[in-house]
Amino acid sequence: MRGIILAGGHGTRLHPVTRAVSKQLLPVYDKPMIYYPLSVLMTAGIREILIISNPEHLDAYRQLLGSGAELGLELSYLPQDKPRGLADALIVGQDFVGDEQVALILGDNIFYGPHLPELLRAERGRLTGCTLFGHTVPDPQRFGVAELDPSGRVVSLEEKPRNPRSDLAVVGLYFYDNEAIARAAALAPSARGELEITDLNRTFVDSGEARLVSLGPDCVWFDTGTHDSLLTASLFVQNLQQREGRSIARLDEIALAMGFVDGPVRSRAEPALAAPRTH
Ligand code: DAU
Repeated sequence: MRGIILAGGHGTRLHPVTRAVSKQLLPVYDKPMIYYPLSVLMTAGIREILIISNPEHLDAYRQLLGSGAELGLELSYLPQDKPRGLADALIVGQDFVGDEQVALILGDNIFYGPHLPELLRAERGRLTGCTLFGHTVPDPQRFGVAELDPSGRVVSLEEKPRNPRSDLAVVGLYFYDNEAIARAAALAPSARGELEITDLNRTFVDSGEARLVSLGPDCVWFDTGTHDSLLTASLFVQNLQQREGRSIARLDEIALAMGFVDGPVRSRAEPALAAPRTH
């Protein structure tokens, strides 16, 4: 399975902070935001990863993460010349994906859960069609929303509905088989001119090939698209690391634990990761 991190967009909800800086490079406590989704793909066992961002920001990501070799990764970079929508990532990345399966993760989504790595690896192993991940939220109208029947089958998906049919948000992590590339290419832009991820996912619901897996109550999920959610995420990471002594998005630790590298990582990634821990 190949991984794609979508790290473009205008970041308008974070202006003026993101007027000159790419949103997914902003700090979430002590690390750039993109470390968090990158760490999720790594814990899922994915090593070939494409980073997509706006042409003017792509070099900054290259500077930050390089080839990925120090972490045992193969990182590549491609521009999205305009924010055409989340499903456009599969079109930009189609040569990179080739004939493989693909995990798409949004560069502003942060996940933490003790059982998440095992869950993601298990879902990789049983993927056909698409696997979506859901989380119960108090404000579902801000997200893609899934409705399930009593057997847990997805019966509807709606993007930011005014009257949500459930409180189950579809989070910004999607596993697809290779069919998704052709399906993304066949999508028509929505009323707001974007190739909507929810439209792509609905094609899998319609063909009976969509599975939704709940992240579960012990998992924490943030979409850091607003000033408040960015601050909340930073405070969460600070608390987790300093009070609870746990680590999150330590790329060097993950690379070692996953067996991507043999010895401790000495890399450009290291200084930012060496967070002091107080207990
Ligand atoms: O966070 C989960 C939600 O993400 C899902 O529940 C929604 O179904 C999904 O549409 C998406 O909603 P958002 O309103 O958060 O999407 P947004 O337009 O903010 O884009 C998400 C990220 O992707 C953001 O970091 C910017 C980046 N992006 C966005 C677009 C439209 C791109 O890199 N390129 C794009 O063309």
